[in-house]
Order: sequence, then C-alpha cells, then structure tokens
Amino acid sequence: MKKYKVAIVGATGAVGREMVKMLESRSFPVESIKFLASERSAGQKLVYKDTKVAVELLTKDGGKNIDIALFSAGSDVSKEFAPFFAADGCFVIDNSSTWRMDKNVPLVVPEVNPHDLKKDKRVIANPNCSTIQMVVALKPLHDFAKIKRVIVSTYQSVSGAGQKGINELTEQTKAWVRGETLPLASKFQYQIAFNLIPQIDVFTENGYTKEEMKMTNETKKIMGDDSIEVSATCVRVPIFRSHSENVWIETEKSISPVQARELLAKADGIQLLDEPENKKYPMPLFAENMQTTYIGRIRADISTKNSALTFWVVSDNLLKGAALNAVQIAETLVKNEFA
Ligand SMILES: NC(=O)c1ccc[n+]([C@@H]2O[C@H](COP(=O)([O-])OP(=O)(O)OC[C@H]3O[C@@H](n4cnc5c(N)ncnc54)[C@H](OP(=O)(O)O)[C@@H]3O)[C@@H](O)[C@H]2O)c1
Repeated sequence: MKKYKVAIVGATGAVGREMVKMLESRSFPVESIKFLASERSAGQKLVYKDTKVAVELLTKDGGKNIDIALFSAGSDVSKEFAPFFAADGCFVIDNSSTWRMDKNVPLVVPEVNPHDLKKDKRVIANPNCSTIQMVVALKPLHDFAKIKRVIVSTYQSVSGAGQKGINELTEQTKAWVRGETLPLASKFQYQIAFNLIPQIDVFTENGYTKEEMKMTNETKKIMGDDSIEVSATCVRVPIFRSHSENVWIETEKSISPVQARELLAKADGIQLLDEPENKKYPMPLFAENMQTTYIGRIRADISTKNSALTFWVVSDNLLKGAALNAVQIAETLVKNEFA
C-alpha cells in the first residue's frame, strides 16, 4: 500500500494534537511525519507512534517533499503559507476560514460532498466546526424531503477557541473553587466560567456574528444548494469539549420523526440516541473523544402546520468538527487515488 509524507502545521495546538491522534488511531498510511509550528514551540518534542518528533519552525518551503499537509494554525498562517505548500505539489487541508468561501476551493465534509474533491484542487477547506456536525445531520433529511429553512442555536465548548479557551475556563474554575477572585477574561468577551456568552467571533452589519454567518454560507456551499436558508445563533458555553446544537428544519416534502429516525440511523457518521423515555439523548459528556455525530430529541414542530422537525445534535468539535474531518478528507484523497 502506498504511504504518504504528512505535515501538520500547528501541530502543538488543540486541533493539531488531535490530528496526530487521528492519523494514529485511524491507521492513516504515513511514510513520514513532520510537525510545524511557530518559534514559540520549535524544538519541542511531540510523540507520534511512540517516537519523539521535534517540532520545526514553519517556513515557506515546509511543503517541499510533502504529499499532504494538514493546516491548523489560524487564518493568517494559512493565507501566507498554504499557497507555497500547494505550489510545491502537496495537498493542503486547511482548518481555518481563509479559503472556505473561495469558489476554487472545495469545502468538504466526506459524508456530504466527497465529489467536490478534485485531483487538481490542491487547497481544500475544512468547514467550521458547528457547520460540519449540522450538515452531517441535514444531508440524509435533505435528500429525502428537501430542506427549505434551518434555524439553529449552538452551545459551543471553549476548546472551539483553541488551547487558550481551554486554559481560560480551567483557570477561572480553579479560582472559583478556591474562593479567589477570578482571572479577567482575555480569550472570551466575558467570564466564561458559570456563564454563557451569546457572541462567537465579531458582529457583522446584519446583526449576526461571523460564526453565525459561517453556518449560513458554508451550509449552502457544502450541500450544493443555495436555496437552503439558515439562521444561526451561536453561544459559547462553559464546557471543555463538544458542541451541541438545537436544529429546526422546515422541509418541502412532509417527513415524520419516524422517517427521520430511519434515515439518520443508516447514515454514515451518525449515531442515533433517541429514547427520551429511557433518558437517552446526546450530551457533550459522552461525545468527548468520540468520532461520531450524535442525534436525538427528534420531534415534529407543534407550532406550525408546515412540515417541520426539531432535533438535538452533539459532536466533539476537536474531532468531527476539525481533526477527524480533515483526516477523513485525506483518506478520501487516498481512496480516489488523487494523492
Ligand atoms: N478548536 C476547534 O474546535 C476548531 C475547529 C475547527 C477549526 N479550527 C481552526 O483550526 C485552527 C487552529 O485552532 P486551534 O483551536 O488548534 O488553535 P490553538 O490551540 O491556538 O493552536 C494554534 C496552533 O497554531 C500554531 N501557530 C500559531 N501561529 C503560528 C505561526 N505564526 N506559525 C506557525 N504556527 C503557528 C500554534 O503553534 P505554537 O505552539 O508555536 O504557538 C499552534 O500549534 C484555527 O484556524 C481554528 O479556527 C478550530
């Protein structure tokens, strides 16, 4: 079997570390691995398959002699470095928002639109974490009943804001337990411990935040259907890992909760947890470290005569929302013999 020279840009970050684990646990055919980050971490050692590998400084020629580069170091880094990596012939799978809405860049969730991957498209965008888990749930329902409208509220964990987000909730919680004054917010707008913040990213002119508009725009692109209307409200919650979403959909064709359950139960990447009578429903507590999108609380909307369902979706934002989806894209490139 062919093996690949893989680089992880941002290997020391919250997502980068999970990428390392995903390559290992999914037995991706790795010939060699290279870890890249900024001067802050250059020289630090990370472990890959029981071997210590030194982190190297990211430079523009870092993509030479690399087949696949997983980028997870933020938008500025992707904008500056990804084109050099792609020009050197490697596939760049980028976690930042930089290229997502670029017409020439496929935006891919393998369960939904693997056909958008092409041999000659060397930069591929990994969608926003909240969008990924939502479209995994929407796709089977859309294929059956054609979704017209989506209203979604998210409950997003602090790891969605990277290692600094994790540290901020940890430090504030520790101080609270000790009865000390809580450290001031720096990554988030306000104290996140014991609070909810209805703002993720900055506000845009229409009153929605950038995170909310990502869910609107990226959903249309991934689903290949500009007619799907999406209104999102994104909320940061004091949870370390896994995003939860309440999703409401209105469909063109009638669909019952029973039909929705049947469709979702056999869809790739989904596990149905929908037995409210037995207190079975998805929760972040159980989704952490799992490579699955969990769906439950499926019910018909009682407030309208139109065909509408509401349900609850939970997935690990660092895995399906980032590292796992990126590695699945790499696996699809390999399967299609593009890489
Ligand atoms: N967290 C999530 O749930 C999630 C989900 C989807 C997408 N994303 C996206 O993934 C990216 C990384 O997120 P994260 O949560 O892993 O952030 P993070 O924990 O803050 O990690 C950032 C990583 O980028 C590296 N980096 C920063 N500036 C760099 C530079 N100038 N040159 C080279 N490396 C640099 C850091 O290396 P040092 O150790 O050297 O600082 C670190 O490895 C972001 O674009 C984010 O939007 C995150």
